[in-house]
Amino acid sequence: MNITGNTILITGGTSGIGLAFAEEFLKEGNKVIITGRREGRLQAIKDRLPGIITKVSDLEEAAQRIELVDWIAENYPDTNILINNAGVQFITDFKNGIDLDKLQTEVVTNLIAPIHLASLFIAGLKGKENAAIVNITSGLAFVPIAMMAVYCATKAAMHSATLSLRYQLKDTGIKVFEIAPPAVDTELGHDRREDKDQSHGGIPVAEFIEGAMAALKAGTLEAGIGMAAGMRIKREELFEVINGNFPG
Ligand SMILES: NC(=O)c1ccc[n+]([C@@H]2O[C@H](COP(=O)([O-])OP(=O)(O)OC[C@H]3O[C@@H](n4cnc5c(N)ncnc54)[C@H](OP(=O)(O)O)[C@@H]3O)[C@@H](O)[C@H]2O)c1
Repeated sequence: MNITGNTILITGGTSGIGLAFAEEFLKEGNKVIITGRREGRLQAIKDRLPGIITKVSDLEEAAQRIELVDWIAENYPDTNILINNAGVQFITDFKNGIDLDKLQTEVVTNLIAPIHLASLFIAGLKGKENAAIVNITSGLAFVPIAMMAVYCATKAAMHSATLSLRYQLKDTGIKVFEIAPPAVDTELGHDRREDKDQSHGGIPVAEFIEGAMAALKAGTLEAGIGMAAGMRIKREELFEVINGNFPG
C-alpha cells in the first residue's frame, strides 16, 4: 500500500489504535477523517491536530452508517481507504447470564458494522488508485480468551469475512488488508477497570503502530503484529496457555 497521498476514513478515531493510525497517516501526508460517538473528544483532537476531519457517528446504528457513507461521498469523494477500526470489548459470563444488550452492542459494533460499511464503500472505492479496506481484527480471532467469548467470536468472524471480502474483490483493484493486533495499551475494556486510567497491559500504542504501518507499507495483506504474529498457526497449543492466565 502506498501510505501517502490518500484520503482515509478511520472509524473509531477518538482513542487508542484508531487515533494512533490517524496521527501517523497525517504525518505521512494523507487526508484523514476520523469518527466516534464522543463529540468532545473529536473536538479536542481537532484542536490539537489541525487538518484532521472529524465526524460524530454511532456505528451501532445502521442509519448512521448509511449517513456516514453518504456524507463521505458528498464531501470527500476522493476517499480511497476505509479502516474498519471501531470496536468494543465486554466480558461474557455464560454461567451467570448473558447481558443481551451488551451482546448485541458487541456483535453489531465489531462485526455487523464493519461488514456493512465495507459493502457500502465498495462502489465509491472502485476505480480509485491505491483503494483499500483495512480490517482491524485481533490475535484473539485465532485463540479466544474464554472470558471474552463474544469479543473473540466477533474477531474470528471478521477474520473469516475478510478472507471472503478479499476473494470477492480480487478483480476490482480494491485491496483488502487485515491487521491483527496483540494486546495494546488503549482504552479497550476500560469501563471494567476500577481506575479508568489504569493500564490493561499490552504493548504501547506507538510500538504497535510502527509494526502495523510497516506491514501496510510492505503490502502484507494479513499481518499479525507482535505477539499476534504466530497465533494463527499455533492456535491449538496456545489456547490452554493463554487461558491459564485468565479467570475461567
Ligand atoms: N487494544 C487491544 O489490546 C486490541 C487488541 C486487538 C484488537 N484491538 C482492536 O483494535 C480496535 C481499536 O481498539 P482500541 O484498542 O484502540 O480501543 P479504544 O481505545 O477503546 O478505541 C475504540 C474506538 O472505537 C470507537 N467506537 C466504539 N464503539 C463505537 C460506535 N458504536 N460507533 C463509533 N465508534 C465506536 C471508540 O470511539 P467512541 O467511544 O468515541 O465512540 C474508540 O475511538 C478495535 O477493533 C479492537 O477490537 C485492540
